[in-house]
Amino acid sequence: MTDSWVNLAGRLGSDLHLELAGSGGRRAVLIRALRDAIRDGRLAPGTRLPPYRSLAADLGLARNTVAEAYAELVAEGWLIARQGSGTQVAPRTEPARLPRVPDMPTRLATPAHNLRQGQPDAASFPRSAWLGAARRALGAAPNEAFGPGDPQGRHELRRALAEYLARARGVRTTPEQIVVCSGFAHALRLLFGGQVLRGPLAVESYGLAFHRSILDAASVRTVPLSLDEGGALVDELNDLKGVRTALLTPAHQFPTGGPLHPQRRVSAVDWARIHNGLIIEDDYDGEFRYDREPVGAVQGLAPERVLYIGSVSKSLSPALRLGWMVLPEHLLAPVLTVKGQREAWASVVDQLTLADFIASGHYDRHIRRMRQHYRSRRDRLVAALAANAPHITPTGIAAGLHAVLRLPPGTEHSTVQAAVRQSIAVDGLATFRHPAATMPAHDGLVVGYATPPDHGYGPALEALCRILPPGESTPLST
Ligand SMILES: Cc1ncc(COP(=O)(O)O)c(C=O)c1O
Repeated sequence: MTDSWVNLAGRLGSDLHLELAGSGGRRAVLIRALRDAIRDGRLAPGTRLPPYRSLAADLGLARNTVAEAYAELVAEGWLIARQGSGTQVAPRTEPARLPRVPDMPTRLATPAHNLRQGQPDAASFPRSAWLGAARRALGAAPNEAFGPGDPQGRHELRRALAEYLARARGVRTTPEQIVVCSGFAHALRLLFGGQVLRGPLAVESYGLAFHRSILDAASVRTVPLSLDEGGALVDELNDLKGVRTALLTPAHQFPTGGPLHPQRRVSAVDWARIHNGLIIEDDYDGEFRYDREPVGAVQGLAPERVLYIGSVSKSLSPALRLGWMVLPEHLLAPVLTVKGQREAWASVVDQLTLADFIASGHYDRHIRRMRQHYRSRRDRLVAALAANAPHITPTGIAAGLHAVLRLPPGTEHSTVQAAVRQSIAVDGLATFRHPAATMPAHDGLVVGYATPPDHGYGPALEALCRILPPGESTPLST
């Protein structure tokens, strides 16, 4: 491609100089030229780009080349695509600085339909009940609460959590074994960044890339365990020389969705007992189980061998940054030492508010209400698939705030690309796969059904069903 002035006056309302020069294929050159034009401000935020057919004709390029360039710039956050109103320059000034999640080919800055997993329904945050709890908590707090904090966390909250976790999750603990933190990610940083625990660490072959990056940053080598419908194949632990710690999501494997098979729960605990090992239990959404009773915590089987971690990120909001660790006795002092030295603590006002919120029964009521809400969202997803894409199997649907749609082999990447073109934010399973995993890769979409607002959920499901490929999917197996 040669250097060329492209006059888009008729389409943009002003001249646009696109520098279509340089190395690389036509698509890469066009992407670079558009990106430069946006960065320089020659294409201002909100500017509507010509339909890709017209631009292709103006530039003498294939339509696909322009369509792919637009899709890539949408994925990078420079452009936004809205159904009915075409493609526009994104309002953000420097979208390229948005963090890119490893392995993720595509991200949308402002999707029309957000089906990405990870968030509860923000509109359902119990504002007035939380406000009431904050008012009561502040009124009742002794003056010493506003002095220097205790790195272990407020005793009011640890007392409320000990009672709640025993009753609702089968955790065996006293308030003295609980350390308040700001969530699972903070707990990982304390434990491994603070060198309370060291690698190598066994993890599940599919998990959150963000958590792997925290472990990488702490120079912890992670060793993937294979998975099937019964969760992690914990027997593999016996063959892993030097591994004494395993991180599992037993109540609801993240993201594939099954509970750890009862026999494997026992085997995991046996392994830890025999090898003087430790299981880290990530109980991120254990309360949200729809078709039968919640699966209790593995910690209840062996409190001295399991370090249990939970947070309010799925039950209330990830913005609160409140979580808890239930520690085996021997880890309490080392964790408190690290936390006292290095870490910011959760706000005492928020801790006291959560303590009141739990003790007054509001937390249980909120969970019950949200369980119904998410179950109905889950049911609508299943019904939409049955009606529009019956060949696609949704799995992991008995619990949680997301489901995995199994896709025909080889179709995940193109489906995720199609989602981007339709302005649907959704992740493929590959995003969650451990880079060293040896189990067969599976094609799938991880669909979060909690995030869209009520009025947007139906359209989001319709948009999703439109991009699903034909063909049969395969079950998760090793
Ligand atoms: C697998 C998994 N574990 C834990 C969490 C909770 O993380 P945090 O408490 O750091 O918000 C999440 C996200 O909410 C998650 O997806």
